[in-house]
Amino acid sequence: MQLQLSGVGFTHADGHVALRELHLQVAQGEQIAIIGPSGAGKTSLLRLLGCQIKPSLGQFQLGTQQPWQHSPRALRALRSRIGLIHQQPPLPPKQRVITAVLAGRLGQWSLLHSLRNLLSPQDRQGAETALARLDLADKLFQRCDQLSGGQLQRVGIARVLYQQAELMLADEPVSAMDPHLAQHTLRSLCAAAAEQGSTLLASLHTVDLALALFPRIIGLRDGRIQFDLPAQAVSPEQLSALYANERLASPASTALNPLRIARC
Ligand SMILES: Nc1ncnc2c1ncn2[C@@H]1O[C@H](COP(=O)(O)OP(=O)(O)OP(=O)(O)O)[C@@H](O)[C@H]1O
Ligand SMILES: [Mg+2]
Repeated sequence: MQLQLSGVGFTHADGHVALRELHLQVAQGEQIAIIGPSGAGKTSLLRLLGCQIKPSLGQFQLGTQQPWQHSPRALRALRSRIGLIHQQPPLPPKQRVITAVLAGRLGQWSLLHSLRNLLSPQDRQGAETALARLDLADKLFQRCDQLSGGQLQRVGIARVLYQQAELMLADEPVSAMDPHLAQHTLRSLCAAAAEQGSTLLASLHTVDLALALFPRIIGLRDGRIQFDLPAQAVSPEQLSALYANERLASPASTALNPLRIARC
């Protein structure tokens, strides 16, 4: 799914301006990492692209459509083609992993099929295949509240892979994982998105992973795009400026040696 922002801004209900005059074009199948300090607007941008919040300003186009001109029903249909990967997946604690993964297609199923699925999971093989990509096939019947934070994040990713979303929006999808698992999981996500032909945008605090695994990097700060460049073109100076004066400036230091991780 391709998308386009022209002069898009977003202001929260309390008057806080989270996104300012963004211009952005993303082609079908692109993989983009969004980096920037805490409070830069990464989550706000992903929520806006996922049609969770409505731009206060400018024009937002998804494919050939302007989502906010749709009827509520057409907007729901559009959202069912978008997969949201949350930092803390909002999964009901007592739900089984298999049910959580299969819920990825609830927006595409009839009410009857969805109800049947609640009573008895309808596509064990589909769930197992998605979980296997994240090395979690053995957790199929585990309850979500019996998983670690990193395992729960991987269930959230498996759910979006099962959904076969045309647009995948991942908000700090590997923040609860150790560095090795984070890298392995992001590689799996990028590979799956490429196989499905899905467009992928992911916000990341680990700058080295972003630079190593994503071809295009957007640096966001104070709600503005500070740079939008191929990964190879991002310089240490630009990264220092992006994180300048932030108390949590440590990601920039790992970014100084981004080539430690081999490309996909
Ligand atoms: N519901 C809200 N109401 C008012 N302001 C908000 C709300 N949510 C976020 N903000 C503000 O909008 C700005 C952008 O927040 P956002 O969550 O998009 O940043 P972020 O880049 O994702 O940060 P982090 O890296 O900490 O997750 C911040 O200044 C934040 O305080
Ligand atoms: Mg955030």
